[in-house]
Amino acid sequence: MKVLAILGSPIRKRNSETLTKKVVESLKNHISKDETIEVDLLSVQNLKISPCVACDRCTRIKGCVFQDDMTHLYKAFNDSDIILFSSPLYFNSLSAQAKAIIDRCQAIFSSKYVLKDPMIDRDRKRLGLFISTAGVDMNDDPELFNGTLPVMDLFFRSINTEYVGNLFVGNVDQVKVMDNPEALDSAKDWARILAGKYKEI
Ligand SMILES: Cc1cc2nc3c(=O)[nH]c(=O)nc-3n(C[C@H](O)[C@H](O)[C@H](O)COP(=O)(O)O)c2cc1C
Repeated sequence: MKVLAILGSPIRKRNSETLTKKVVESLKNHISKDETIEVDLLSVQNLKISPCVACDRCTRIKGCVFQDDMTHLYKAFNDSDIILFSSPLYFNSLSAQAKAIIDRCQAIFSSKYVLKDPMIDRDRKRLGLFISTAGVDMNDDPELFNGTLPVMDLFFRSINTEYVGNLFVGNVDQVKVMDNPEALDSAKDWARILAGKYKEI
């Protein structure tokens, strides 16, 4: 099982990272004895990723004009079975660093729909989970994360990955996920669901 985990918070070791790592750790408990798990865990803090500049070059030549850490990510998207994408909720959307990764997937979009020479194996089955945390309590705003949904839907489509679901936790400025057993249990539940679905593919 190849797992790609992207940590989209500019700050390390906090809420969204803790949840993402809990899913990764729990996935390890669900793989069968004869199987191995390979984890590529990447933080935006260590990645150099330029934002898309809409130069349109990807509509003429396969790939992106920028040679930066997206080169690794394009390959990692292709090669992964499970993709965990996490971000804190910033202004009802993703962190700028996480969004930059998503926008750079325009090169994949162009390769498929303009150049008809895909950068990604469209037949490979991949499973995606979005993990996000927010300061506001979801009891006060049940629609808190709604702004992220169409973004993540398009992102997972662009990388030909089944968008299995979301792990959302609010109120993290009051109750950190590290002190929230329910949130950590949800991470474990998602690992079980993903591992179960992985066995079917
Ligand atoms: C720039 C910025 C924008 C934010 N916007 C929101 C928001 O729109 N809604 C919300 O509930 N919390 C918002 N927050 C709070 C963060 O979502 C919360 O602290 C975050 O989930 C922490 O994630 P992390 O610990 O993984 O970095 C914002 C925080 C920052 C720094």
